[in-house]
Amino acid sequence: MKNMRLCQTVNISIKMHKNYQKVFRWILVSGLLLVPLFNFWSPWTSSGVDIRSRWSPVQKVLSKKIGDIIRGYPDIAYHKKEEVACRLAQNACVCLAGEETFHLPFSHLLFPPVLAHNLQYAFLENHPDPEGIKHHRAQEYKNFQRRSYNPADVLIVAEANNPLQYPIQGVEVQPLKTIIIPGLGLKQEARSSYTVNLTATLGTFDVAATVDMVSIKGEGENYMTLSSPLLSALNRQLQFVTYTNIVFHPRTADSIQFATEGHQAFFTIKVGHRKVPKLYNSGYNGGYNITALVTIATKTFIRYDKLKDLIDSIRKYYPTVTIVIADDNKDPQPVTGPHIEHYIMPFGKGWFAGRNLAVSQVNTKYVLWVDDDFIFTANTKLEKLVDILEKTTLDLVGGAVREVTGYAATFRHTISVEDGGEEGDCLHIRLGYHHVIEGFPNCVVADAVINFFMARTHEVQQVGFDPRLSRKGHLEFFIDGLGSLHIGSCSDVIVNHASKIKLPWTKSETRKVYEKFRYSSTGGNDRDELIYFKNRFKCMTRQ
Ligand SMILES: *[C@@H]1O[C@H](CO)[C@@H](O)[C@H](O)[C@H]1NC(C)=O
Ligand SMILES: *[C@@H]1O[C@H](CO)[C@@H](O)[C@H](O)[C@H]1NC(C)=O
Repeated sequence: MKNMRLCQTVNISIKMHKNYQKVFRWILVSGLLLVPLFNFWSPWTSSGVDIRSRWSPVQKVLSKKIGDIIRGYPDIAYHKKEEVACRLAQNACVCLAGEETFHLPFSHLLFPPVLAHNLQYAFLENHPDPEGIKHHRAQEYKNFQRRSYNPADVLIVAEANNPLQYPIQGVEVQPLKTIIIPGLGLKQEARSSYTVNLTATLGTFDVAATVDMVSIKGEGENYMTLSSPLLSALNRQLQFVTYTNIVFHPRTADSIQFATEGHQAFFTIKVGHRKVPKLYNSGYNGGYNITALVTIATKTFIRYDKLKDLIDSIRKYYPTVTIVIADDNKDPQPVTGPHIEHYIMPFGKGWFAGRNLAVSQVNTKYVLWVDDDFIFTANTKLEKLVDILEKTTLDLVGGAVREVTGYAATFRHTISVEDGGEEGDCLHIRLGYHHVIEGFPNCVVADAVINFFMARTHEVQQVGFDPRLSRKGHLEFFIDGLGSLHIGSCSDVIVNHASKIKLPWTKSETRKVYEKFRYSSTGGNDRDELIYFKNRFKCMTRQ
């Protein structure tokens, strides 16, 4: 009750010039005090809150307006500039492999062909209920779109000659809190009276102070009108308009309509909690302390001999760095030693499940992923990878893997998604990278890199390794990370690959069992299902 009395005093008229600072202190206090009040006033919160994302009436008007603006001036002729226009997305991708233009010996090595994998055929053809699965995917996609819809992403145009002044972007409020809306104003030619109104969907308006000669209707409601015979008084009053969010959502936005006779403007107020940072305290003593900053993670299956060679090689250069091993062998053998964490999983849980488990146990700022048949050498300089991660916005940076032949592979790819309508989109994976990184001449930006990479632990944990990929998989992680991971690749940090290419008749028994699991054909259709259903693609083209 005390709160309520205090809050109401805010509406008492104040001589603004003298008490300017005092008022702002009041605003701050009253912002906090207004919150419990709305719990009583608001009819919205009395019987539960609808947290489906809603298409508010304001957004309906807004979308019509944008349509009108885009369709304006239809009778003025135009000339298409083909070389630019052809770069615009057509939003109707088709599943096409690259054309082979010439046939020469080794031409496929120099210019790797683009292969197209039609997921619709590959996955749906063998499915007992293709129509059912299509329908299910469409429904899940609709729900996903509804969940991820954010009014702050809606296009807003500030029209020319609009007498209304307002903030287009950059206004934020925490859920159920109150702010002053900055920047509201009216610039209009002389007339007998001036009126503006404000409309919100997820919140209410009020004023933190009142100004003489201004009449206000709808304080504490989601529609407020302010009018005055004096333009300067109205503009002064507009500086004290507050917005209080009344529907709790940790991350959304409210579209505000701001109108005067003959003119409407729209802007958004972001509603959300502050992003809580996730920081790692890894000590700082000038240089990079790899033990404190990095954990090495790997997954092993059957190849204990290879794993031992890997550990021995790491210890030569980094004797105290923690090594996390995920192990899904049938008969697990002990792997012991200082700074080793060995996690035994149920038999055959699989490749991505193991990666996920290993990465989930990392508590250093960075995680280095290695395969269990890699060997560290003097060229495996983890400091270089830490350095680029510390100095750039990259989240993940790959190195190079030197095969026994001497060739060092970086496996750089770019990934893009093209809209394809109802059937699903197209995923395009190509060899190559986007650009070289300034200050790091051996490093480039790409969308996918090799199996040897260092990454910010938290970012990799956020993307995760989908445990449904059991046998094979690598690029799938980068497909899931597209748009959230900033990825680089450096060719001067090199790890060696223990012999992989062996003639079949010289293979050891262990190797044969390993290959039977890893490369058994059962994985293919699972993978098609994930890309078709989970990622909603109809086609994947790949180089
Ligand atoms: C808001 O104000 C404008 C101009 O005063 C008016 O035309 C419009 O109808 C008002 N909007 C509503 C929802 O009353
Ligand atoms: C590096 O970090 C480890 C683990 O936090 C710590 O034990 C060690 O003393 C540090 N080394 C130096 C040189 O600071």
